Amino acid sequence: MDLPFDFESQLAARATLVERRLADRLDGTPRPGEIVLPPRILSAMRYALLGGGKRIRPFLVMEAAALFMPDTDTEAAALDVAAALECIHTYSLVHDDLPAMDDDALRRGRPTLHIAYDEATAILAGDALLTLAFDMVTDPSTNLAPERSVALVSALSRAAGFGGMVGGQMIDLASENRHLSEEEIVTLQAMKTGALLRFACEAGAIVCGATPDDRERLSRFGEAIGLAFQLADDLLDLTADEAVMGKATGKDADRGKATLVSLHGAEWAHTQLRGLVDAAVELLEPFGDRAELLRQAAGFIANRRN
Ligand code: IPE
Ligand code: IPE
Ligand code: MG
Ligand code: MG
Ligand code: MG
Repeated sequence: MDLPFDFESQLAARATLVERRLADRLDGTPRPGEIVLPPRILSAMRYALLGGGKRIRPFLVMEAAALFMPDTDTEAAALDVAAALECIHTYSLVHDDLPAMDDDALRRGRPTLHIAYDEATAILAGDALLTLAFDMVTDPSTNLAPERSVALVSALSRAAGFGGMVGGQMIDLASENRHLSEEEIVTLQAMKTGALLRFACEAGAIVCGATPDDRERLSRFGEAIGLAFQLADDLLDLTADEAVMGKATGKDADRGKATLVSLHGAEWAHTQLRGLVDAAVELLEPFGDRAELLRQAAGFIANRRN
């Protein structure tokens, strides 16, 4: 079948652009206002950020923006926001892997940051990646109208913060070895994973100054694929191979994580996944053919192998 191959080469092409942008920002040159870039933290940030990762969130930012046919300036701004979001996602993984959290030794096919460096460096590199994201969104070179910049910072703060990703991580940890209802698990997953994926889709609309209706529609699309994404992650944790995933598997059961797969089983999860993808794809209808890659992204998220 040609389609998945086609999608994956599109994903890889965007990933290369994002990686280049990130490498450029972490080139070791202090920007105005920065004093010194200590080599150890710079090297740790580069280790975490460059070389690996599907870069699906940046892809979603860029493809959501492409729906509104941006000019070259807007396209460059979308790339900056995409790269910024990858900084936040990567920081979330660095902290998620720490011994105090999921205590994982393998990430993106390599030793986790706290193993390759040390815990304190991993904590600080995570902190620095988080702040770097806001630096990138607001950098004057991004050339975004101030009101769009402010809207992005606001939406990103709320998606990443205590009412979003961080809050979801808190609930996830507090729920180990406890019974959660389906509704509670859905909320936790909508926060720890869904919030950044939702932001990715919404950000494309914000960068382009799309109408509130379109912004809302993309946000709902992001919500649906966000739930699908974590459901697929939990299924892969149960069934996939560590070598293919580039991270340990079988860990959710070991740690007593509250997941929909542990609550309802794999078969139920597969059916649910199909429903979420259908609902997501339906939301894209008004965008017609322009949304083809976003449609494929929804399928990819549900059927991915790693
Ligand atoms: C892993 O995210 C963490 C979850 C939210 C489940 P990804 O599967 O997107 O990880 P990378 O970026 O490709 O490594
Ligand atoms: C992680 O969920 C979500 C975030 C990093 C915010 P998981 O703990 O399931 O992710 P993996 O399986 O370690 O990638
Ligand atoms: Mg976790
Ligand atoms: Mg984890
Ligand atoms: Mg997982």
